[in-house]
Amino acid sequence: MINDTLPKIWYGGDYNPEQWHEEVWNEDIRMFKLAGIDVATLNVFAWARNQPDEDTYDFAALDATIDRLYQNGIYTCLGTSTAAHPAWMAIKYPDVLRVDYQGRKRKFGGRHNSCPNSPTFRKYSERMAEKLAERYKDHPAVLIWHINNEYGGYCYCDNCAESFRNWLKEQYQSIEAVNKSWNTAFWGHTFYDWDEIVPPNSLSEEWDGNRTNFQGISLDYRRFQSDRLLECFKIERDAIRKHTPNIPITTNLMGLYPELDYFKWGKEMDVVSWDNYPSIDTPVSMTAMTHDLMRGLKNGKPFMLMEQTPSQQNWQAYNSLKRPGVMRLWSYQAISRGADTILFFQLRRSIGATEKFHGAVIEHVGHEHTRVFRETAALGKELGKLSDQLIDAKIEAKIAIVFDWENRWGIDLTSGPSIALDYVKEVHKYYDALYQQNIQVDMIGVEEDLSKYDVVIAPVLYMVKGDYAQKLEEFVSNGGTFVTTFFSGIVDEHDLVTTGGYPGKLRKLLGIWAEEIDALHPDQHNRIVMKERMGRLDGEYTCNILFDLIHSEGAEVVAEYGDDFYKGMPVVTKNTFGAGDAWYIASSPDGDFLRDFITEICSAKEIKPLLKSDRGVEVSQRVKADRKFLFVMNHNDTTSSFELDHVQKLDLLSGETLTGTASIAAHQVMILTDLE
Ligand code: GLA
Ligand code: ZN
Repeated sequence: MINDTLPKIWYGGDYNPEQWHEEVWNEDIRMFKLAGIDVATLNVFAWARNQPDEDTYDFAALDATIDRLYQNGIYTCLGTSTAAHPAWMAIKYPDVLRVDYQGRKRKFGGRHNSCPNSPTFRKYSERMAEKLAERYKDHPAVLIWHINNEYGGYCYCDNCAESFRNWLKEQYQSIEAVNKSWNTAFWGHTFYDWDEIVPPNSLSEEWDGNRTNFQGISLDYRRFQSDRLLECFKIERDAIRKHTPNIPITTNLMGLYPELDYFKWGKEMDVVSWDNYPSIDTPVSMTAMTHDLMRGLKNGKPFMLMEQTPSQQNWQAYNSLKRPGVMRLWSYQAISRGADTILFFQLRRSIGATEKFHGAVIEHVGHEHTRVFRETAALGKELGKLSDQLIDAKIEAKIAIVFDWENRWGIDLTSGPSIALDYVKEVHKYYDALYQQNIQVDMIGVEEDLSKYDVVIAPVLYMVKGDYAQKLEEFVSNGGTFVTTFFSGIVDEHDLVTTGGYPGKLRKLLGIWAEEIDALHPDQHNRIVMKERMGRLDGEYTCNILFDLIHSEGAEVVAEYGDDFYKGMPVVTKNTFGAGDAWYIASSPDGDFLRDFITEICSAKEIKPLLKSDRGVEVSQRVKADRKFLFVMNHNDTTSSFELDHVQKLDLLSGETLTGTASIAAHQVMILTDLE
């Protein structure tokens, strides 16, 4: 449990009373109670209020807010306020200001704006965290600490340059090792002194954000910035822990955000939390995958949905409203995949600045007679009734998909073979095929133990680090099924090619050699022609983006290319390795192929769908002490159906009993359990 002081799904969100006055505060409380809100996230952007100058700290307003809410039954998720530094700090200590990608020194403004290597930022953020912890350590309202906010962005200042060199010294010990790892003999970029190394931005090796002359330095700069920002988190965390060892600590992540290696971050947090902002056209399976990924950061432990909008965003190009019922639907989607909180950004909509058109529980009209408020209040009541039943329930999966930020950076930074290659999209294709069949998946990092899975899928495993190939070999020889795709096994952790034939360290496991890699315009296709029927895999399919020209070195050729000069070469192979098998999909296949392929490998392992349902009806299951909670969620705009066969189930939300072919109305949700 995140904190057993409040043993239910927490409900509430970001609350900024500093933008308002007393009369409004009282109204807020009245309406929070109407909406069943029991948690407010406070103090996220209040550094300037808490510390008006270098020597003065003033927590009177925060004291009053925490008390007022607590007296009214509302707990606090307590921010540390360090996500935007005060203006006076920027003037007095310019080292807090970042230098941007173009090499320009920033002036005061914005947020998430402090240099991670600024001595001033580190000193004052630590001091702020410590003061807050000392002050509120015994306050019964504080359920959890929320450090900073959505860490992100890179800095290229001189302090970062210096710190980067130190980071490199720690990693490599010698300048020769750096030269080797970055292959600096190319273009005569050999370094003779650490001080010759400068951050890779548009003044040096990079352009357009992820184009680079040297993948090695660019990759290391990403690792370095992610690590240093994580250090900032740890500095505040440790200052707090000294005083409140029993209150959990988190910071809100951003799902598929590219810049930070979240698997490293997850380890340092007591509980993972994240902010979910899909747009109207984000595939629901992409959101599902992101929830699963956030759960994966802490080995399947329940996570917090820290932010979502009750209605619309302000920062997208077209800020569509969540259609009636969709806020509830997407909230249950989060819960069904491991969230134990539903929190919003924000509780009251501000009147000025950039977020005045961002959705909120209390809108500008100020009263409760709005669609958004009614929907929020209804959900608050419903979650209250569910009480603690779902809290801590786990998700059980036999299939894992590997997701790795460093591999993603490597692919993003690479020059060639195709700009159409998008790691997240390729991963999502495989995820989506499983999602469409209601098969539960864990999204895992490369450090996760594989022995609990029957099937491990690692799409585009371009970078094979350390002894990962051995780990995969062990998994397969013990009977596991491993699936990987084109453009895998190409480089090591330094982005240096493994010579002697692709897929490098995976060659033995896969029983193939990839001689060449073709890239075509995404509109151009080749064909995957099955050699013979294999379960549902039959006939032919299409594929695009990249095409590895492979030779079997012992693997069974399951399908061949149907066109072009490599017609007849293998495109799908299966290699028996010990007690298991390892598949190679040499191009990016269409959805039909993936559907049939997933069916084939799941049936071979007797992995069954949770339920059969119409397309658009999502199914996910949480399990607690042998009690199963089967979530059925209809994302369609029309009534749809699913199959219960002869089993009788009780819907916890409506109290109804169902069996056989059941129907579910548009945007409706059911939580089905076995009848006692
Ligand atoms: C982020 C931030 C919030 C707010 C919302 C708006 O998630 O954490 O402070 O700006 O976006 O969508
Ligand atoms: Zn910096």
